[in-house]
Amino acid sequence: MKIHIKTYGCQMNERDSERIRSLLAIRGHIASDTEEGADVLIVNTCSVRAKAEEKAIGKLGLLTAKRRHPHVIVGAVGCMVQRMKDSIFDRVKGLDFALGTGGLSKICDILDRIEAGERRVIDIERHRETADTASAHEKSGLSAFVTVLEGCNRRCSYCIVPEVRGVEVSRPAQEILHEVRTLVAGGVREITLLGQSVLGYGKTTPVWESGHVSPRGFLEPFPRLLEALCEVEGLDRIRFTTSHPSGCTNELAAAISGLAQVCEHVHLPLQSGSDRILKLMNRGYTISEYRDAVGRLRERNSSMSVTTDLIVGFPSESDDEFEMTRRAVKEIGFDNAFVFKYSPRPGTRAEELADDVPSEEKLRRNHALLRDLDVRGTEVNAGLVGTEVEVLVEGPSLRDKRRMSGRTRTNKIVVFAEEEGIGIGSLVRVLVERAMPQTLYGSAVSGSLTRGGAGKTGGGLEL
Ligand code: SAH
Ligand code: SF4
Ligand code: F3S
Repeated sequence: MKIHIKTYGCQMNERDSERIRSLLAIRGHIASDTEEGADVLIVNTCSVRAKAEEKAIGKLGLLTAKRRHPHVIVGAVGCMVQRMKDSIFDRVKGLDFALGTGGLSKICDILDRIEAGERRVIDIERHRETADTASAHEKSGLSAFVTVLEGCNRRCSYCIVPEVRGVEVSRPAQEILHEVRTLVAGGVREITLLGQSVLGYGKTTPVWESGHVSPRGFLEPFPRLLEALCEVEGLDRIRFTTSHPSGCTNELAAAISGLAQVCEHVHLPLQSGSDRILKLMNRGYTISEYRDAVGRLRERNSSMSVTTDLIVGFPSESDDEFEMTRRAVKEIGFDNAFVFKYSPRPGTRAEELADDVPSEEKLRRNHALLRDLDVRGTEVNAGLVGTEVEVLVEGPSLRDKRRMSGRTRTNKIVVFAEEEGIGIGSLVRVLVERAMPQTLYGSAVSGSLTRGGAGKTGGGLEL
């Protein structure tokens, strides 16, 4: 069958969709980029804000309503299924199946049941994964996501994720290493380790075989994992997301500065600059602890890039408290940030608080922060003009096919003039000549190619 998956939500969901496609491919099904002609249409859903849910419900409604043939199967998977359970069938008439976050490895069985004539099939159990189903990847390009930590044990008062993703479970380090070695053997050069609170890797689940020692003497599980991954021959870059200030220890700072493959970038959600609001959010740090966490990382890594998430209009957030967030954002100096308007989620602790910041005020705060961030982002990028940055080349630039584009270690997009010998997968130094808020422009430094690429069209690498 031809299968199309539409994905909403975070990188964890992108990875899950990829895993579903790869599991289906093992059974001989074919992934399709378009809805047209697909026999199975799957929506991977997100519950994080009401808007995300509305989008997914809208999409599912369209797909079930305009089914070309009765044989076309429409299913929902992921966080919304986990939250809504059976009631998702009432919201989406004609939905054939619903699969929660803990049973994606069951996708083939579900399709078999539908083929056998069952309808309204639902599975929201958390099934035990085998190493094979957890590690399944599609034939990938240069970069891959690797989930290292499922679920979340934090209880941020606004957040639905712990409910829909369950308790924290870290994957065994050997399994992750095997997955990454296989990916690298298939051409992957950059991995992003995923976890809702990724620095907590291995804190609540044993992850190392007994007797594992860290040559550099790291005691914390996450830095040890980074160290072990750096031994994988051919892997150029290691990224990780999302970080929490409690994990920004000296060991992490030492791992980032001491391990060449680990990129100098943390995505470290701040959420608010007011201690009172942070406490109501149950974030587990004060603004001064957050500042110290960033300080530790920057002290050892001068080019450290820090990006963040912010929520505006949390219940009872006053104008003064919002101004505290603005000041904190200016003072800490983020490379980039996502700003979200608070959205009450069913069953969370914050839902009990009155959602009392009017929506137009949330919008005003949102815009004000975005303006501040834009100013800062432009300054940060302007400061890079005249410096050299390492770029992993991803392919021709989308806007101008005669130029190449790639990313710095700090995850900024760089566009530069095409040159002999530089292709997809090349690792090259680029002199930055011009900066825009979201993109750097420059030219390759001659003789700086440290790793050859596969030619401009990829020579076998699929992007
Ligand atoms: N585990 C990650 C990501 C969680 S969801 C973390 O700890 O940060 C991504 C972002 O969505 C969060 O950082 C937060 O800024 C935002 N978010 C989560 N719940 C929200 C809600 N109810 N309303 C608005 N934004 C929310
Ligand atoms: Fe949600 Fe907090 Fe867990 Fe992130 S750390 S997923 S915001 S509960
Ligand atoms: Fe991600 Fe949304 Fe689920 S942010 S974990 S897809 S609720």
